[in-house]
Amino acid sequence: MEESSNYNDMNIGRKTTEYTEPESFYKDAQVMLESVLHELMLRIELLRRYIVLEGGRDPVEHCKGRIKSADSMKEKLSKKGLPVTTESALTKVYDAVGIRIVCQFVDDVYQMVDILKRQEDIEIINEKDYIANPKDNGYRSYHLIVSIPVHLPDCTRKLFAEIQLRTIAMDCWAALEHELRYKKTVENPELLAEELKRCSDEMASTDLTMQTIRRMLK
Ligand code: GTP
Ligand code: MG
Repeated sequence: MEESSNYNDMNIGRKTTEYTEPESFYKDAQVMLESVLHELMLRIELLRRYIVLEGGRDPVEHCKGRIKSADSMKEKLSKKGLPVTTESALTKVYDAVGIRIVCQFVDDVYQMVDILKRQEDIEIINEKDYIANPKDNGYRSYHLIVSIPVHLPDCTRKLFAEIQLRTIAMDCWAALEHELRYKKTVENPELLAEELKRCSDEMASTDLTMQTIRRMLK
């Protein structure tokens, strides 16, 4: 499972976006994917600015985006028994484009979710609240699968994207868990899983305390 490594900081105006190799598997669809990635990154950047303009506090710590690498897309499609084609990459799986929004506080995550749900051109296809309902291993995040229009010269096409929203603590845990998952020489995998779960619960409890402190200071 892919985690932080493929996500790259992208600041509009400063080119730090990471695309997949140009001659890649996506072929003509590459431009559409880049369009979706840019569209979402720009939207988030502007929403943050509007919030601040209106006297609010920026709810986003940072935001990263990526187009799934050709290799991991091919691997995912064949694992799922789907045709390994550009078309199924665009229509049968939802994370060819992925955005990760990292917030300071849990409230900020839900604020961003609400804001995204109110964007008229962003259609929510699916949502998973792994904050209210963490995975058994301790994974916490809010996932939105969205569909957004891409304006081509002769038509408009809708493409999927996955938006992951989490706190800094949840992001930290996910990055470290991902790293450890690939360590082959684990002597006691049960203990490791137990400890990771414990860390996640401790971090969630810290998130809660931080949130409480912030509410007290407001
Ligand atoms: P696919 O994984 O896309 O087939 O669909 P799914 O329904 O299983 O998606 P899910 O919401 O479980 O996960 C989507 C993404 O969330 C993954 O690609 C990871 O980036 C992230 N993710 C999910 N579970 C974990 C986890 O246990 N640990 C970490 N580090 N990341 C996770
Ligand atoms: Mg999965």
